[in-house]
Amino acid sequence: MAIPYEKGLDNTLALLKEGYQYIPNRRRRFHSDIFQTRLLGQHVICIGGEEAAELFYDNEKFQRKGAAPRRIQQSLFGKNGVQTMDGAMHKHRKALFMGLMTRDRIQDLIAITKHQWEFSLEEWMQKDTIRLFDEARKIMCRVACNWAGVPLWANELKLRTADLSAMIDAFGAVGPRHWKGRVARNRTERWIRKIIKQVRSGVLHPAEDTALYAMAWHRNLNGKRMSTQMAAVELINILRPIVAIARYVTFGAVAIHEFPESAGKLQSGDDLYSQYFVQEIRRYYPFGPFLGARVRNNFSWQGYFFQKGKLVLLDIYGTNHDPERWGDPSVFRPDRFKEWEGSPFDFIPQGGGDYHIGHRCAGEWITVEVMKVSLDFLANQMAYNMPKQNLNLSLVRMPPIPKSRVIIENISKK
Ligand code: HEM
Repeated sequence: MAIPYEKGLDNTLALLKEGYQYIPNRRRRFHSDIFQTRLLGQHVICIGGEEAAELFYDNEKFQRKGAAPRRIQQSLFGKNGVQTMDGAMHKHRKALFMGLMTRDRIQDLIAITKHQWEFSLEEWMQKDTIRLFDEARKIMCRVACNWAGVPLWANELKLRTADLSAMIDAFGAVGPRHWKGRVARNRTERWIRKIIKQVRSGVLHPAEDTALYAMAWHRNLNGKRMSTQMAAVELINILRPIVAIARYVTFGAVAIHEFPESAGKLQSGDDLYSQYFVQEIRRYYPFGPFLGARVRNNFSWQGYFFQKGKLVLLDIYGTNHDPERWGDPSVFRPDRFKEWEGSPFDFIPQGGGDYHIGHRCAGEWITVEVMKVSLDFLANQMAYNMPKQNLNLSLVRMPPIPKSRVIIENISKK
C-alpha cells in the first residue's frame, strides 16, 4: 500500500507555520496515522498514535544513529550522547542514568526542591512582582546543581541558568535563538569539563551517589573512562532537563489560574490527585513536538513499506491529544488519569516504551516529583495575585511559553 503523501518539494515552511499542529493536522486530513512528506530537504515518514508509538520503540526496526539533526546536537543534546546511541552501548550508557534514579536519591531531590522553593518564597515576599518562569528556572538550576553534586557559586547562578535555558529554548529555533543555544552549549561544556577534570584530579570530591561522581568515573563497555568531553555532555544531560522542568511548573501556574475548579482539588492534599494534575499538565501542554529515528532494516507495518535508512518522526503532541484515546483532548481534566491504565505508548510527553532498553526519558519520575512539590507551593503554600497579562501560548513557537512568562504579585505565605 502507498503511504499517503503530502505534495510539495519541501514542506518545512508549513512545519514552521503550524508547529505542534503540523503532524496532527495531516493525520486528520489524510484520515491516517501515517503519511509521507519532505522536510529539511529529505523524505520523512510521520506517524502518530498508540500503535505507531509501539512500532517506533521497537529496537529491531529503528535506530537513533543518524537521526538527530546536527543543529539539535549543537544546541540541545550535545554530540554523541545517550540520545544518539543504539544496542548494547546504549543499554550500558542508559544504566548509568537510571542508576541515579533510586528511591533515596529521589527523596533527596524532593527535599532539595522544597528547600529551594522556601528560600525563594522568602526572597519574593520582598518584591512587588516576579516573572515566575525566570524564577522557576533559577530554582531548578540550583536544584539541578545541588542534586548532581555540581558546585554552583552565587555569582554564577544567572549565567548558568541562562545558558542551560538557552539550550532548551533553541530546539525549534532558526536564527538568533539557535545561535544563542550554541554559544550557551559551548560555554556550559567548558564549565562542566573543568569540573570533571577537578574530580578526576582529586581537587573535588563529590558524594558517590551523585551524577557528577557517576559521570566522572563511569567506564564504557570497553573498560575505558568516558572522555572529559563525553562526561560533560552526559552530566549536562542531567542538569539541562532539570532546568526544563521550570517550563512545566510555569504551565502549572497557568493551569491553576485558568482551571480553578481542578486546581481547588489540589488543596485537599490528596497525593493521588496531585499526580493526576501533574500528568494532565504533561499531556495537555506542548513541549516535545516529535521524535526522530531511522529505519534499521526494511520492514512492513500495516501494509506500508518502511525502507532502510528512512527518517521517521513520531508525533508526541498529537499522540497525547489523540481524540480517540483521550476524548475531548483539548479539555484540561486531571481526573481522566483515574482511568488511565498506564500504557507505555498512549501518553508519551517524555517518550514511550521501556526506560532501560529504550530511549524513554531517564528523568520522567523525577520530573513528576519535582512538579508535585512545585505545584504544592503554588497552590497551597503561597498566596499571590496574577495581574492582567497575556498568557497566550503559541503552538507555533518551539518550545512554547506563555507570552508574559507569568507575572505574579503581592506574594505571601499561606
Ligand atoms: C530523553 C522529555 C526531563 C533526562 C527524553 C526524551 C524526551 C524527554 C521527549 C526523548 C525520548 C526518546 O528519545 O524516545 C523530557 C521533558 C522533561 C524531561 C519534557 C521535563 C521538562 C528530564 C529530566 C532528566 C532527563 C529531569 C534527568 C535529570 C533525559 C535523558 C534522556 C531523555 C538522559 C535520553 C534517554 C535516552 O536516549 O535513552 N526526555 N525530559 N529528562 N531525558 Fe528527558
